[in-house]
Amino acid sequence: MIVTIPDLITPEELAYMRQVLEGTEWVDGRVTAGSQAVKVKNNLQLPIESQTAQELGQIVLRALARSPVFTSAALPLRILPPMFNRYDVGMTFGAHVDGSIRALPGTGQRLRTDVSSTLFLTPPEDYDGGELVIHDTYGAHSVKLPAGHLVVYPATSMHSVTPVTRGSRWGSFFWTQSMVKDDWQRTMLYDLDRSIIRVREEMEDDDEAVVGLTAHYHNLLRHWSDV
Ligand code: NI
Repeated sequence: MIVTIPDLITPEELAYMRQVLEGTEWVDGRVTAGSQAVKVKNNLQLPIESQTAQELGQIVLRALARSPVFTSAALPLRILPPMFNRYDVGMTFGAHVDGSIRALPGTGQRLRTDVSSTLFLTPPEDYDGGELVIHDTYGAHSVKLPAGHLVVYPATSMHSVTPVTRGSRWGSFFWTQSMVKDDWQRTMLYDLDRSIIRVREEMEDDDEAVVGLTAHYHNLLRHWSDV
């Protein structure tokens, strides 16, 4: 399931993040790539443990916490610190699947990457190319969103970033270990949650149908979650 979330961050947060990123040092993105991805990866990143990455990462995490759609789609158990990348002209990231297990920096604690997310930080009119292409069983989906918008997709999917041919594409990306690791189960819970929200707009909260559907949602989540 691919879910886009418009305006995850406010225009003020976006402007602040862009201003901080203007004046920061970027390093070769290959430092965090595994042995297959390193051969197809060509971009720049903020050093993960830099003060800037940590400060801006907190802004992203706060925005995620106030997004009911992100919570419903990702069902987050733990989120790795958001990272920041940049593709200048000629930079690209060929087809790959993100590593399945990552260590939480500074702790050695391991997280399973169930859900991948990209927050777009550059207006699409400011660059050409740089589409995030996500492959699933229905085909290839090309994603290029307005600045401040987020895309959430299963970490199991093959994906790539097409070469930037004009301008510079900045973004934040991060992984979530979900309470429900199976994408199909998460998709069903997300669809059910969306439907319950629509039903509650039409019916009273103590209506038997609303109570029953809500109970069913929670019993499915209880059955499928590993927390
Ligand atoms: Ni990736």
